[in-house]
Amino acid sequence: MEKMDMVKSFKEYFGAEGEIIEFFSPGRVNLIGEHTDYNGGFVFPCALDFGTYAAVRLRDDYTVNFATLNFDKKVVTDLKDNNFVKEDDWANYPKGVIKEFQNRGFDVKGFDVLFFGNIPNGSGLSSSASLEVLTGVIVNDLFKCNTDMVDIVKMSQSAENNFVGVNCGIMDQFAVGMGKKDHAILLDCNTLKYDYVPLVLNGVKIVIGNTKKRRGLADSKYNERRSECDQALEDLNKELNFKYLCELDEKTFEAKKGLISNSVNLKRAEHAVYENIRTVKAKKALETGDLVEFGKLMNQSHDSLRDLYEVTGVELDTMVEEARKISGTIGARMTGAGFGGCTVSLVKEESVDEFIKTVGENYEARTGLKPEFYVAGVGQGAGRA
Ligand code: GLA
Repeated sequence: MEKMDMVKSFKEYFGAEGEIIEFFSPGRVNLIGEHTDYNGGFVFPCALDFGTYAAVRLRDDYTVNFATLNFDKKVVTDLKDNNFVKEDDWANYPKGVIKEFQNRGFDVKGFDVLFFGNIPNGSGLSSSASLEVLTGVIVNDLFKCNTDMVDIVKMSQSAENNFVGVNCGIMDQFAVGMGKKDHAILLDCNTLKYDYVPLVLNGVKIVIGNTKKRRGLADSKYNERRSECDQALEDLNKELNFKYLCELDEKTFEAKKGLISNSVNLKRAEHAVYENIRTVKAKKALETGDLVEFGKLMNQSHDSLRDLYEVTGVELDTMVEEARKISGTIGARMTGAGFGGCTVSLVKEESVDEFIKTVGENYEARTGLKPEFYVAGVGQGAGRA
């Protein structure tokens, strides 16, 4: 992954004087537990060792100058009038997080900030959550707000929900903020209780495959899935009393699923309930070193996202199919919201080169898209760089 000399670039943009502080926030990959977070279930992501970098310098007024090495667009915001502005484009993510701090009564003052991200945009590796949590960490640090990381995570999610208008769950921001080197996080999205599990992979690598299919319609389809789940829960609650679909165990779901009147909503609910069960099983499999079982659960997860939740699409399905043909592949699935973006596979170390070459060639031949692959390193959550 390309990295930049952020301080040098910052000086070129904003001048050399004053103290310049550097921060970093990772991307994330979810190993299993997809579309369970907003259903009150478990997720099992980890933070990556690449993400979003920032160099920052305090100002003595109430202006924030946002710049990024990724796009040409610079944005100047007067903090006395910090509102969503469509033309501000990517800067609405950091603006939204700043607004959260302002809403809590913190006196956020001006600063100059230069960002650079090496998470491919729209790839489903959480470039937006990374930028949000990064901003939260910067504001918290510069203005000594004393807000703990879980709160920064919640504020980042709230910024995305209420300022940017995407109704995401909490997984991405949590993984980005609370990630721990060489660990995955089992997070109960209902209670926010979490458990770090060492990623002891013994000769196995996590390989991310970028389909290069951008998640075009993702946001509207994402919100559609959420409301389908809500409708299913409403039907179940004619006789039950649950807050979230993922609170149902297998027995209860099987006994009561007939209450769900719409067949599409039934499929969505079935995915949520069983994906949640798989995620808990996957955590146990990792703890006991049973990667074969882990891989099986990953495969089942993808198949359920394809057949029941219907969020995969031809690109993700093709890449997963090709990945599974490689003998050293232990499991392969889509990761993130779906509709494009990335797959995640567990691959035996000695097969990684063959995997990248063969899956790459076959995927390109079948889809016409040139994919990219990253052998993931699992890093720390956001903080000073
Ligand atoms: C996106 C959302 C997350 C989560 C996943 C699906 O990444 O931001 O909150 O719902 O999709 O698991």
